[in-house]
Amino acid sequence: MKTLITGAGGMLAAEVARILEGAVALSKKELDITDEASVKEALKEFSPEIVINCAGYTAVDAAERDTQRAHLANAFGPRNIAKWSNAVKARLIHISTDFVFDGNSAVPYKEDDAANPLSVYGKTKLEGEANIMRSTEDFVIIRTSWLYGRGDCFPKKILALAMEKEELAVVYDQIGSPTYAVDLAQAIRALLGAPAGVYHFSNEGVASRYDFAYATLEEFKKRGREFKLKTLRPVRTVEAAATARRPACSVLDKGKYKQTTGKTIPHWMDALRRYAAGAS
Ligand SMILES: NC(=O)c1ccc[n+]([C@@H]2O[C@H](COP(=O)([O-])OP(=O)(O)OC[C@H]3O[C@@H](n4cnc5c(N)ncnc54)[C@H](OP(=O)(O)O)[C@@H]3O)[C@@H](O)[C@H]2O)c1
Repeated sequence: MKTLITGAGGMLAAEVARILEGAVALSKKELDITDEASVKEALKEFSPEIVINCAGYTAVDAAERDTQRAHLANAFGPRNIAKWSNAVKARLIHISTDFVFDGNSAVPYKEDDAANPLSVYGKTKLEGEANIMRSTEDFVIIRTSWLYGRGDCFPKKILALAMEKEELAVVYDQIGSPTYAVDLAQAIRALLGAPAGVYHFSNEGVASRYDFAYATLEEFKKRGREFKLKTLRPVRTVEAAATARRPACSVLDKGKYKQTTGKTIPHWMDALRRYAAGAS
């Protein structure tokens, strides 16, 4: 199937391009999704059957200051992509986030639970979803959480800090599910022909940010990595100095994905082992 991937150069786009043979992947330089004329031209010229939008402004804290750029990439860009995907009769697969939720739910979020983003990033991603739904009927929006893989990501930051510092504080009151980009790319492939709508996908299992950091360090220690770090200290969010507010508990319910695709999802610790095996 003729497939166009946006946001090439990003963490997820690289994995999606790797498993979808023959797909054309365009970087921001090659296709800026905020430039409607370029989006129109690219989609008309390439005439894809499927567009996978992996482009986005993903710097959650920076977005609090850089609202206009976040809005352009996360809300206006998806509108352009949806409008012109619809015009050329391409299906749009778009990636969204658990940060559309406020994190106050004690049970995992289903696709139609009420959104209430706490951050500029979450708000702009939610607006992007709404713009897509207004612009095309043939869309699949996949909300995912705590994405990591080859590229800048939480485990990579923890590993780098653990080489530099003797003590590191990580929040233990933010709960979610890590998602390995390799597994999300497989899920995207599994959803290419799914009924239109919103789907949730992450790896199985639940962790705090502290647990995720702890497990990452243990996994790399097992593989011989040495760290300067002596103490990994669990702290509460109020003690950490992040700019953007983040949901306290943003576990996603993946029932719809599993029922639709018939697939099982690897546990996040299994995924982390594969990540460490590839990265160490
Ligand atoms: N990372 C997470 O924890 C996480 C969690 C949930 C959902 N998501 C979503 O998953 C998707 C993929 O995330 P990721 O982690 O792979 O992000 P990423 O590594 O930051 O990649 C995003 C890519 O989009 C590009 N981009 C930014 N603005 C663009 C524009 N106007 N036109 C075209 N390309 C543009 C970026 O280029 P530059 O770097 O040159 O700006 C970058 O290459 C995003 O939609 C994100 O919101 C991510």
